[in-house]
Amino acid sequence: MRDLEPGWRAVDAYLAGMLVAEDAALADARESGRRTTMPAAEVAPNQGKLLALLCQIAGATRVLEFGTLAGYSTIWLARAVGPHGLVTTLELAEGNAAIAQANLARAGVSERVQIIVGPAADSARRLVAGGVRPYDFVFIDADKPSNPAYLEASLALTRAGSVIVIDNVVRDGAVLAASSADERVQGVRAVLADIARDPRLDATALQTVGVKGWDGFTVIRRNS
Ligand code: DHB
Ligand code: MG
Repeated sequence: MRDLEPGWRAVDAYLAGMLVAEDAALADARESGRRTTMPAAEVAPNQGKLLALLCQIAGATRVLEFGTLAGYSTIWLARAVGPHGLVTTLELAEGNAAIAQANLARAGVSERVQIIVGPAADSARRLVAGGVRPYDFVFIDADKPSNPAYLEASLALTRAGSVIVIDNVVRDGAVLAASSADERVQGVRAVLADIARDPRLDATALQTVGVKGWDGFTVIRRNS
C-alpha cells in the first residue's frame, strides 16, 4: 500500500496542475498552516476545489465551517459563495484565527468571512441561541472526538436541502478499528453511526488518496 503513495502524490500534482489553480493567497495560506497548532492539516488543493464546487452546485451562499486553522479551506469556501455570501468559521485557538484573518485579507474575502474564536460547540450553541438563518453548506473539519457534537449542532443550524461534508473519516484505515483507543477514530465512528440512523439524512463516504495520504470524507444531504 505505502509503496503506492509516491504515485498518489504524483497524480495529485498532475491533476491539480491541470485543473486546480492555486493563487498566491491560497499558496500563502497553505504555507502558513505550518505555523498553526495543526501543521499541514489543511485540505489538498483538489479537495478545496471540490468543496467550492459542491457549494456552488448546492447554490450555497451561507456556509458554516468547524475548524479554521490558517483559513485555507475557508478561502475556497468564501470564494465559492461570492461577494454577497457569508462564511462563518469556528476556531478554537486565537493564534490560528489571527493567521487565518491575515490570509483571508490577502485573499480579498475578509468581508464575507466571520471567524468566531472559542470551542466550536460553544460557538455553535450561541449561533443557535441567536437564531441565525440556516446555513446551506457545512464543512466539519475540527477536532475529531467532537464530530458527533458538531453534526448535532449542524442539524440545528441547517434546513432541508442543506449539505454537510465531514473530513478525515478514513484515517489510514483506522476507522475500521471498532475498539480503537484513539478518540479521533471513535469520534468518526460515532458520527457515521449517527448519520446512518438519522432518517433526515442521506449520505455517502469516499476514500481518498493523494498528497494527504489515505483518508476520506463524508457527504450528507439533509432531506428534511
Ligand atoms: C487531522 C485532522 C484533519 O483535519 C486533517 O485534515 C488531518 C488530520 C487529525 O486530527 O489528525
Ligand atoms: Mg481535515
